Amino acid sequence: MKKVILDLDTGIDDAMALAYAIADEEVELLGVVGTYGNVYTEQGVQNVLNILNMLNVKNVPVYAGEECALDKDKFDRLEVSAKIHGENGVGQVEIEKSDCQKQEQDGVSFIIDSVKKYGKDLTIVATGAMTNIAKALRDFPQMSELVGEIVIMGGALIVEGNVTPFAEANIIQDPQAAKEIFESGANVVMVGLDVTKLTVLTKDHTNQWRVNKAGEKYADMVDYYIDMHVEIDNLYGGCYMHDPLALSYVNHRDWFKTISLPMTVITQGVAVGRTIGYNSHVTESTPRVNVCIDVKADEFIKHYQSTVMKLFK
Ligand code: BDR
Ligand code: CA
Repeated sequence: MKKVILDLDTGIDDAMALAYAIADEEVELLGVVGTYGNVYTEQGVQNVLNILNMLNVKNVPVYAGEECALDKDKFDRLEVSAKIHGENGVGQVEIEKSDCQKQEQDGVSFIIDSVKKYGKDLTIVATGAMTNIAKALRDFPQMSELVGEIVIMGGALIVEGNVTPFAEANIIQDPQAAKEIFESGANVVMVGLDVTKLTVLTKDHTNQWRVNKAGEKYADMVDYYIDMHVEIDNLYGGCYMHDPLALSYVNHRDWFKTISLPMTVITQGVAVGRTIGYNSHVTESTPRVNVCIDVKADEFIKHYQSTVMKLFK
């Protein structure tokens, strides 16, 4: 069983990753850090609390992470984020407000404490802006050697970005943070658009969830997301499984084809947010990132569906 921290900007596909983590007996979810991106941090934290309450999960602590990029003092939510995830981040679906509160400890120090406690047994899966992990690496540089693995949903190696032709959403929120993670020397895995756009969930899947209240709410959320994919991505009848796919890497790396590359992120100019091979710095000691370039999409979708169905019965 893998010990996992999720760092989410919840967000519909983040919510899908959360359900997957809760339902999967091979994942021990140590805690969730809420961050910004699809939503503001405060809303992201509240969405996680509400969803955990709806799923009757009482033992997963929730922490608030950073509220904006490393080199900024404020975050402005992109219009497209409000559109694709709904104003409230969960497809305008009303989820009962949880009585539970977030932890007093902040998300970055929770990450650092967990690295100190669990070391190589810990995997961090980040599916929003990359600021929390970069901040943790700045505050505690030994983290790069101690942590087991950092799996990020973000970036695009040989496909187009989804915010600009160069940049994927999670990376463009804080390109400097992503660059510092890539160049840190930690075991980093990039689950980017190259693979997430190969995985599609349809309303045939979500219809099967409509057997209890939580299943209805989840199906409503994801159906909203599917409808938005028609408008935004020209994808009819399904949605990309960005964030759940990143989580699946933790226990199913055999589904993925990866290449090990020295990676960096462009932090300025027209190509800001581009995730790209660090060609000018290739030496034997240059840190490398495992970049996913292919995935057994059908196996993943089958596993996702059978796993989350355990919550919806
Ligand atoms: C990523 O951006 C966010 O909108 C999604 O939740 C996902 O993490 C996809 O580019
Ligand atoms: Ca996300």
